[in-house]
Amino acid sequence: MKKKKQIKKKNFNKEKVVEEPTPESRLENRRSFLKKVWKGFGIIASVEVTAVFFGFLFSGKKEESKPKQIFEAGNVNSFQPNTVTAFRGGRFFLARLEDGGFMALSLRCTHLGCSINWEDGKKRFVCPCHSSVFAINGNVENPPAPTALDYFPIKIENGIVKVDIGTKLKRNRFNKSQVEYA
Ligand code: FES
Repeated sequence: MKKKKQIKKKNFNKEKVVEEPTPESRLENRRSFLKKVWKGFGIIASVEVTAVFFGFLFSGKKEESKPKQIFEAGNVNSFQPNTVTAFRGGRFFLARLEDGGFMALSLRCTHLGCSINWEDGKKRFVCPCHSSVFAINGNVENPPAPTALDYFPIKIENGIVKVDIGTKLKRNRFNKSQVEYA
């Protein structure tokens, strides 16, 4: 085993003994330095992961608390069953289904986003771009449209139909839970 060299330094009246580092102790120092660096990286990474996690949580809450854009379509009784009324300003069709339920359907075709038209004689929506056809509830009757028309949530308050045009909902097919009743 190597003997550690000792250097004696005179410091005024006191005598200080400083050990000269051996190759082993240098290696040990380097290892402990690298350990500290990795530990630092670990702490930074975990802080970032935590920040991203909480950011995600709170961004979800912000979305929920976004003020709604409510469009008042009118009195329930002004819409007859099995009819569709266009609200181009609100970017939706208000469909009153045969059973009296209401749906607010997007004007945009789910194929490539062209504006669809309502054909009252045939009780169907038709896309002028590639001839997709949709039923009054938004279901696809003729492709290439891949999914039913998007829709907006409705609330009926004091006999007034109110559409939340700030929340567009996607779906594959129509189902009754998407309909609002007076
Ligand atoms: S955009 Fe409507 S069918 Fe293509």
